[in-house]
Amino acid sequence: MTEISDSRRQLEQQALDHVIFTLIPTADLEAGGANIFVRGEGVHLEDHTGRRYLDMISAVTRANSLGYGNREIADAVKRQLSTLHYAGTASNIAPPTIELATRIAELTPNDLTKLYFANDGSEAVESALKIAKHYQITTNKPRAFKIISRWNAYHGATMGAIGATDWLGTRHISEPGMPGYSQIPGPMCYRNPFNMDTAAYGEFCAEYLEKEILHQGPDLVAAFIAEPVMQANGVQIPPDGYFDRVREICDRYGVLLIIDEVICGFGRTGDWFASNRLGIKPDLLTMAKAMTAGYLPMGAVAVRPEIIDALPVFRHVHTFSGHPACAAAANTVITIKMREGLIEQGRINGAYFLDSLQEAVGGHPIVGEVRGIGMWLAIDFTADKRTRAPLGEEHVRAIVQRMRQHGVIVSAIGTALEIAPSLISTRDDLDEACRVATLSINEIASERGLA
Ligand SMILES: Cc1ncc(COP(=O)(O)O)c(C=O)c1O
Repeated sequence: MTEISDSRRQLEQQALDHVIFTLIPTADLEAGGANIFVRGEGVHLEDHTGRRYLDMISAVTRANSLGYGNREIADAVKRQLSTLHYAGTASNIAPPTIELATRIAELTPNDLTKLYFANDGSEAVESALKIAKHYQITTNKPRAFKIISRWNAYHGATMGAIGATDWLGTRHISEPGMPGYSQIPGPMCYRNPFNMDTAAYGEFCAEYLEKEILHQGPDLVAAFIAEPVMQANGVQIPPDGYFDRVREICDRYGVLLIIDEVICGFGRTGDWFASNRLGIKPDLLTMAKAMTAGYLPMGAVAVRPEIIDALPVFRHVHTFSGHPACAAAANTVITIKMREGLIEQGRINGAYFLDSLQEAVGGHPIVGEVRGIGMWLAIDFTADKRTRAPLGEEHVRAIVQRMRQHGVIVSAIGTALEIAPSLISTRDDLDEACRVATLSINEIASERGLA
């Protein structure tokens, strides 16, 4: 017994001493220790102390769309590794990667039928930005290098992607960053910086894009990049008409529209891509995360052929681009999602879960709004239902922490609590998450005198 706890303590200490953890304040890490998980099965995770959790945030990153321990994916990867583990990159390619490009081309919106593969979401975004600039410079805008993105956006951690990022305190540590980026307001649910009605604010944000293009100089602007459903402060679903207007404005000024589906893609919002569900027509679309359900790292950008074909050569390379084992994982993920109808199931179960949460906590004095699309939901908290003032983020984190103590893992994201279950979650799993969310909100609200 002592030996076991000694080895656990040693593992915890080694983690703190030698691993760089991100996003968690150092003090919280030292107080609470690192989360060390040793195995997973279905939607359950087990930590190094033997404690089991119901994972309702798909391995924190929302990537794990098919749960843990899927033998079919593991076997496909193993087969590929023993047949041809790696073929190089650039002009070298293996059949699973060709198969994957062909299959994704049938799932994307707006004839985005050509694919470039990267290793994660940030690289997919970098690649998209580079294609956009390269295209503009090669065709009709020889001076275009500017990129417009949105307040609160997240597009990745590498320099080009973070230039377009403005997410909850991640941007200013990278400043001054790369030149040529600017941000405009993006539509927000429930509360926005100008206290406008949500629909009116959506129109204002779209019009702002036109003003910003004119302000920056249309000949200098290469692309506008946006998440279809923004992550910051929890599942920001755009108002009807927003992306139609954005498309019109981009067309008017020859600005390419990059839709970043790194979270949304492969079923999170109840369709293969949120662009399909929301009727968005991108010129380029980035994807990663649920593409392999987290079984291996992979990202991609899908492009309209006339854009990529306009380049005499696309000078860009990642050593592991289109890795055959990752492609084998992604192909199997697509097969499983199609065969089991998991995306349709996620859409239906997501609507059920949203109803349950709205009924259970929607009326609570500290809950401002419960919203969601597909299997992506958020509970946005308020200190005052009348003014919609945000609840202190420390209280939101405390609710998330309490849920974890009750055995359910979700995430705090600014003013909201975010839930992104795997597509395989059952109604029982969702009921349990709803029960624990309700219990934890009640407990924290009464312990802290918030309601
Ligand atoms: C919309 C979006 N774009 C890009 C990224 C970056 O992806 P990665 O962390 O795989 O580099 C993320 C990650 O959360 C994301 O949510």
